[in-house]
Amino acid sequence: MTLPGDVPSSHVLTSDPATLLRWYLDAGVDEAIGDQAVDRFTALRTPQLASRLAAESEAAAPPPAPRTHVPARAASAAPAPLSDGGAAHAAQGVRTVDELKAAVEAYTGCGLKQFASRTVFADGNPRARVMFIGEAPGADEDRQGLPFVGVSGKLLDRMLASVGLSRADNAYITNVVFWRPPGNRAPNDEEIASCLPFVTRHIELVDPAVLVFVGGLAAKTLLAKPVGITKLRGRWYDYETPGLARPVPAMALFHPAYLLRSPQQKRYAWRDLLAIKQKLRGGPDAPPED
Ligand code: URA
Repeated sequence: MTLPGDVPSSHVLTSDPATLLRWYLDAGVDEAIGDQAVDRFTALRTPQLASRLAAESEAAAPPPAPRTHVPARAASAAPAPLSDGGAAHAAQGVRTVDELKAAVEAYTGCGLKQFASRTVFADGNPRARVMFIGEAPGADEDRQGLPFVGVSGKLLDRMLASVGLSRADNAYITNVVFWRPPGNRAPNDEEIASCLPFVTRHIELVDPAVLVFVGGLAAKTLLAKPVGITKLRGRWYDYETPGLARPVPAMALFHPAYLLRSPQQKRYAWRDLLAIKQKLRGGPDAPPED
């Protein structure tokens, strides 16, 4: 079988053509342009082409810069802060969840948007007392425009149901980025930073009684703690922003995708869900024991 992209099928660790095609589709390859694979690296290796490219790059090279003294401190300066792509400005102006949704849909400052089919904003009841924030849309979410509708979403729904919650009634669900990262990779720092002002405003507008971060990435991002989910889950944090009248109690939960791979961890998720249920009922804090 001849595949686009010059990649022999043996390099993709599967012999199932349907899996392989899905892999290509997920990576953004949706068109085959030839019957024969072309090895462009070999084509580049002809001596004539190599010497032409060398001559061209020499001609295009800028003249050597005059030597300047760079003070040691400037040379080792911290990296420039990540840009939010204008999100803070756009998010500040909105007064309702619907306005926020429109602002996110109009926003072009996140690089993920160009690869995604749809904006995945939120699902559930925006007046719910509990707001769940996950990581990033996957392929199913990208197709349907709704968060957590794939396999891990089904498990999340069952987890919610076990403590009397559902998106149809009393739970609200979103993610830390609104567009699917290509190939289901994790969103990078820049992509997260470019959505964060919208996520913060989202929390302010929903103003939940309890916030739940689904998975390590959401917890790390919103608690601003560079620690893994195993350390973060199972205890209450105060989530604060200037736009919230009071700190919101927040809990981190293992991501359902992780629980599908590691079912033995479900007992911890169950404890955390019970603690969330108790908090929503206004009961005393009973931090789950590990
Ligand atoms: N995983 C997430 O974190 N969010 C989704 O919307 C789907 C899967």
